[in-house]
Amino acid sequence: MMILGSKIVFLVPMLLTILIALQFVGGKSDYSSLPIFPPRVYEYITNNISNTQLGVHCKDKNTDLGFHTINFGGTYEFDFKPNKFIRSTLWFCRFSWGNEFQYFDIYIEKRDVNICVRECRWAINKSGPCRVKDNSSECFPWNPKVVVEH
Ligand SMILES: *[C@@H]1O[C@H](CO)[C@@H](O)[C@H](O)[C@H]1NC(C)=O
Ligand SMILES: *[C@@H]1O[C@H](CO)[C@@H](O)[C@H](O)[C@H]1NC(C)=O
Ligand SMILES: *[C@@H]1O[C@H](CO)[C@@H](O)[C@H](O)[C@H]1NC(C)=O
Repeated sequence: MMILGSKIVFLVPMLLTILIALQFVGGKSDYSSLPIFPPRVYEYITNNISNTQLGVHCKDKNTDLGFHTINFGGTYEFDFKPNKFIRSTLWFCRFSWGNEFQYFDIYIEKRDVNICVRECRWAINKSGPCRVKDNSSECFPWNPKVVVEH
């Protein structure tokens, strides 16, 4: 019994090590096939509203990253570890310029886990954020306005 017990104690960390090692061996292209431990995600948010300062304030349910301003052409960056196993990570940002503001869910784990592998780049337009990947961009609408603010 003692011997069996110590074998299990030894095997569990070894299996974990193998699983983690596989994540790295997988390399960039295969990452999404093994998303048990999704890698850290870097969000890059670029102000694409000409001649305008953009305010950005991002949060998830536990973390408030505070208010930052981005000059036109400038980039704000933050990073986080997505949840393992349960795809429930959600980061949302309030964007403000002039007298306007809009909200956007910048990272929805179910939507983004296989697209923003390691990084996601956004260009913020008045009409909404556009995700830039390789040479193409995909644009999204702002979150619907709600009466109660976050
Ligand atoms: C940035 O703004 C310019 C000028 O309005 C626009 O042509 C371009 O498509 C925008 N870039 C992205 C990635 O949305
Ligand atoms: C970005 O916003 C500018 C100005 O509102 C608009 O002309 C341009 O088409 C937008 N680009 C995209 C990709 O939405
Ligand atoms: C992006 O555009 C540049 C210049 O137009 C080109 O050299 C490059 O191959 C393109 N990259 C991709 C991934 O399409």
